[in-house]
Amino acid sequence: MDKNLPDASATNRKLVVLILGLLCILQAALNISLRLALYNSDAPDYDAVIRNLKEERDQLKRKLNTSGWVYFRSSFYFISSVEKSWGDSRDDCLQQGADLVIINSKEENEFTRQFRRLFWIGLTDTETEGTWKWVDGTLLNTTTSFWHPGEPNSSGNTDEDCGEARYNYAEYNWNDNKCNKLNFWICEKMVA
Ligand code: BGC
Ligand code: CA
Repeated sequence: MDKNLPDASATNRKLVVLILGLLCILQAALNISLRLALYNSDAPDYDAVIRNLKEERDQLKRKLNTSGWVYFRSSFYFISSVEKSWGDSRDDCLQQGADLVIINSKEENEFTRQFRRLFWIGLTDTETEGTWKWVDGTLLNTTTSFWHPGEPNSSGNTDEDCGEARYNYAEYNWNDNKCNKLNFWICEKMVA
C-alpha cells in the first residue's frame, strides 16, 4: 500500500465524526425550533376566541328570536301583550335585562311605530318638568324627537310626565301622558 495515501479506515473515521457532528447540530436545531413552537402555542388562539364569541352571539340571537324578541339594527325589541303603568313596564324590562325603548333615530321610530299599538317609550320628565330624559339618563335630542303637534302638553295641567307612542298613524307620534295610566310597552336590549 502507498504510504502517502490516507488509509481507508482513517477516512471512514473522519466521515463518522463529521456525520455525528452534523446530527448533533440537527438535533440542537430541532430542539430549539420545537421549544419555540410550543412556546408560541401558549399565545391565545384569537381566531378560536372570535369563532366562539360569534357562535355565542348567534345562539343568543336564536334564543331571543324564538322568545318574542325582534332584532333591528343591533338591538332586540319586545312588545308586551299586557298593559301596565310606566314604572311597572320599566320594571318588567329591567327584570329581563333590558329597559324601556330609547329612540335615537327616525328609522328606529319607524321600526317601533309599525307595532301599531299605544305603548310606553323610555322617556320621562319626572325629575324636572319640561326636561325630557331617556331612561339611560341622556337628554332628549330635539333633532330626533317625534312629538305629535301640540305635544307634550301636560294636558289640562294634569302633569303628564311619561312618554308614549300614541298617534302611530303619523310620523310624529309621541304624546306625554300620566305615568300611572296603563299601556302596552316596548323593551329594548342592545347588543354589542
Ligand atoms: C290629548 C293628549 C293627552 C291625552 C290624555 C289626548 O286627547 O291629545 O295630549 O295626553 O288626551 O289621555
Ligand atoms: Ca299629552
